[in-house]
Amino acid sequence: MRLNVNGTMHEVDVEPDMPLLWVLRDELGLTGTKYGCGIAQCGACTVWLGGEAMRSCQIPAAEAEGAEITTIEGLGTPAALHAVQAAWLEGQVAQCGYCQSGQIMQAAALLAQTPNPSDAEIDEVMAGNLCRCGTYPRIRAAVHRAAQLMREG
Ligand code: FES
Ligand code: FES
Repeated sequence: MRLNVNGTMHEVDVEPDMPLLWVLRDELGLTGTKYGCGIAQCGACTVWLGGEAMRSCQIPAAEAEGAEITTIEGLGTPAALHAVQAAWLEGQVAQCGYCQSGQIMQAAALLAQTPNPSDAEIDEVMAGNLCRCGTYPRIRAAVHRAAQLMREG
């Protein structure tokens, strides 16, 4: 099947029901997206389908055909970070880092919909992204900082 990932079309020879997470990591080598639970409970595998944050461990590859898939590798570049990535670096949000690409993809999707979210809105949207290191206060602060960076252009 053909998958549009980060603006590039890839041909992959996989079973239609293989989870998109597996395709991204094992077939395309995009290992920024992480496996946490495999049952839609942690958010480590969050990517975008058509700009919407989704759990790639629960999306059969066949369902992703035809969609614009964006992973952490396609959000920004080292030379041109997405505002969320810039805010994350500035705030030194990551601890072990394992959950963080999912957190960033979820946060960036939130800000695309809600440019100036309240604490409650951030907590509501980010609640499904678990962090065993407990970086939640830094995540919330960095979402506010990213919103500010986006407003400043
Ligand atoms: S690995 Fe997909 S939600 Fe946990
Ligand atoms: S930074 Fe370690 S799990 Fe979130």
